[in-house]
Parts: sequence; structure tokens; C-alpha cells
Amino acid sequence: MKRLTMTVLSGLLTCSVFAQVIPESTADKSTGRAAWLDDAKYGMFIHWGVYSTLEKGEWVMCRSKIPVAEYKEMASKFNPVKFNADEWVAVAKNAGMKYITITSKHHDGFAMFDSDASEYNIVDYTPFKRDVIRELKAACDKAGIKLGLYYSQTQDWEFPGGAGRKWDQASQKGDFRNYIDSKAIPQLKEIMAYEPTHIWFDTPHSDAGLNTTPELAGEFVAVIRKADPDCIINSRLMYHGNQVEGLKSAQLEELKNVGIDFLSYRDRTIPPKSPWEYWETCMTLNGAWGYNAKDNNWKSPKQVIMQLTEVVSKGGSFLLNVGPTAEGLIPDPAVKNLEQAGEWLKVNGEAIYGARGTIFDGEGQFITRTAAEQAALDKEALATGAGRKKKGHKQKDYAWLATGREGKLYLHFFQWPTAPFVLHGFDKDKVTGSYFLADAEKSPVNVEQEGGTVTITLPDQPLDELNTVLCLTLVEK
Ligand code: GLC
Repeated sequence: MKRLTMTVLSGLLTCSVFAQVIPESTADKSTGRAAWLDDAKYGMFIHWGVYSTLEKGEWVMCRSKIPVAEYKEMASKFNPVKFNADEWVAVAKNAGMKYITITSKHHDGFAMFDSDASEYNIVDYTPFKRDVIRELKAACDKAGIKLGLYYSQTQDWEFPGGAGRKWDQASQKGDFRNYIDSKAIPQLKEIMAYEPTHIWFDTPHSDAGLNTTPELAGEFVAVIRKADPDCIINSRLMYHGNQVEGLKSAQLEELKNVGIDFLSYRDRTIPPKSPWEYWETCMTLNGAWGYNAKDNNWKSPKQVIMQLTEVVSKGGSFLLNVGPTAEGLIPDPAVKNLEQAGEWLKVNGEAIYGARGTIFDGEGQFITRTAAEQAALDKEALATGAGRKKKGHKQKDYAWLATGREGKLYLHFFQWPTAPFVLHGFDKDKVTGSYFLADAEKSPVNVEQEGGTVTITLPDQPLDELNTVLCLTLVEK
């Protein structure tokens, strides 16, 4: 009786609802508008445009120094007759993804939506004549998937004065401010009419090759906020992905003041931790964003799940890319791998959607590759990926990872332990039970706790080779 009274009393005295192994976030909550990312966690990035025709990624126009007129000639024949918005959205949905972010205009300047600001768009400039963003929006609404739009705000290789490299001076030279006023701002207003849940900016440049100023960023933000106060905006309006890990607190404060809602990290990089509550990292499923016919280096379903789990274990959201063909098809291997990962999510989604980080951050990592193997992977990724040398795209290997939520710790086993699994750190938590997400009833598991140490004896075989998730239920001691 005395003990019971004590427990009740200590329960009343501690206001924290989280046990110690799943700490409450003390991070800056940024603007708070992006809270839906916490539940969504997993989105589909789509890089699709005229560049898909050349099958060498979305930078092909710049890399091959294609004159503007020649590229436009190719654009005038773009005819993705196999495009079916419902099918794409179904791929995302079956994959367990909760949102889509698609390139509404990439650096090549071609708009994938009906635009009055520039006739260089899919409706007015091609035999296809269909507004794919409108069709995707309708399909997403039907399926309950959020639709966000990527927009290359400063870099534009088609419009005179657009920022970025120039190899066709006669067509590309011009006034940057005029580009902003005549194309970027008007088109941003236009894409807001599709009611996107988020705008995903990329590669902030200015005329002098410097970062976008807060003033210029503010002009873009004002357009978005006027149309929809809840639409969320990524940090690439002001900083390149590869700058985000190094941002100082004054710069983060500035981002917040400008009205940025979530940080988007360096391409293909899962950061160690984030100073903001809401963040996202984008990843390629092979090595390319835009369709690259030669790149068959697909991540396996297990790799996809491992990276998704790693991102969630650090509190972020995972944006995984597909690059459809010029006909409008998502490549088969991408569909298959995403679907298989999606099967796992159907059973184990509880450990991902709305889940958060734990104190076991990164403990289960192991290194399986030799330096030479890693170097070969780096070389391949650099050859097929966009942009300059990036050091962050290495996939880490984990024997296990942990995610959590109030009263629950999820242990994700990618490699099945051969001996009892021992975890320390439960000084303030009492384990009250355990179950596998894949099988709450049958599989035997024995959990013993002594002080802060928990010893788990598992069955001989994993329940799922991809990732077997064991949930430990917890109460505060
Ligand atoms: C880089 C590339 C761009 C791609 C983006 C995806 O910024 O320049 O082509 O769209 O990564 O995150």
C-alpha cells in the first residue's frame, strides 16, 4: 500500500509524459506549421521534365551545354502519353508515402503546369497539352496524399537573366531582377493556385552568385503566405542543402524570421542531428534525380527501410526520389522496391509515422564496407548524381536502430542478434511488456530488467528479414 502511494505520488510530481529513453524534444520548434511532417515522415520526390527525354538526369542541358533553342525544340516534342496521375499516386500510396513533392519547374526553366507568365510550359509548348500538376493534384486529393511543388526560384537556364551557368550568352544573358519579376514571382503565384501543402525551393543564387538575401527571400515568402498561410517552405529558399549542417544560430534565427518552416539537408545525406524540430532529407533511389537510363544502382527495399528508419530515429522526414521516363512511367525496379518497402510499412508503420528519436541514437551502426568498396560507391554516385562533390551520400549500415513514442520503444533489427540483446539506459523506465509488430501474439520473447539494464532473448529467427520490430512498452519508474 505504501509502495502504491509512493508510485502515485511520484507520478504526480513528474510532469513529463515521456520516459527517459524517449526524451522529449527540446529542439527549436521552428515556425510550428510543419508539424504534419512528424506524422507523415515519408514522401515521394519526383524529378520529371523535358530532360527525361535525354535520359541523363536533370542537369543535362547545362552539362552538355545544349543551346537554348535546341533544348526548346526538344521541349516542343515532349509527349509523355503514358502519364497517369492516379497510377503515380498509387505507387506513392502503396509505398507508404504520405506526400509527394514534384518539380513544377526545374533549372531548365520548363514549367510542368499551365502558365500565363511563360508559354514555355507543358500545356502551351507541347503536343501533350495536359496540365500534369493539375492532374496530380486531383489524384492526390482523391488518395489523401499531400502534394507539394518544387520550384527552381533563381536558377533558370531558359529565361534571360535567370541565375546559373551560361553557355549560350545570346539567349541566357539578361537582367536577374527582370527574371524574378517577369517569371519567378508570377509563376510562384500561379503554382499557389494548385493549393500545394509545401513549396520546395532549390539552389538559391543571386546575380552575383551569392546567397539569396532575406529581402529577396521575403518577396517569395510573401507570395506564398498571401495565398495560403499554412503552406510550408523549405530552407533552400535561402541556403543550399550543403550549407544547412553548418548554419550558425543567427542564420537559423534569420531563416525563422523570414518564415522558413523546415530545414532541407544536403542531397543524399542523413545528418547526425538537427537544431530544428522539423527537417527533411532527400535521397535518390538509384544515383540520379531526373531519369537516367544507365543508372541501375537501385537501393534494395531493405536499404530504403534502413534509411527511412535512420531518419525517423533522428526526428526527420524522408523524401525519396523517383525519376519517371519521358513517356511518363516510373521505372519498374523503383516501383517494385518501393512496394516491397511499403509492405513492411503496412505492418510496422506504428514504429515510423509519428515516431521520434530515442537515447539509443546511432548505437547499432556497424561498418561492413572496405574503404575501396566505399570509394567505388562514391565514384558511382558522383558520376550519376547532380552537383559538385558531395561527401554525405554514403549509406550507413545498422545492425539495429531505435524509434519511440510515449510509452513505447521500437527496436528495429536489421541484423538478427545471435546472443541475448542487452541495452542500458533504463534508469527511469520500467519495461512492462513486449511484442513484435509483425506478430503480437505468438512469438516468444523474454525481457528481463535489472536496474537500468534490459536483456532481451529473441526467437531463433527474425520475423522479417528486412527489419523485425520489437516494441517494448514502458512506464516511468
Ligand atoms: C540538387 C540538384 C538538383 C536536384 C536537387 C534535389 O540541388 O542541383 O538538380 O533537383 O539536388 O535535391
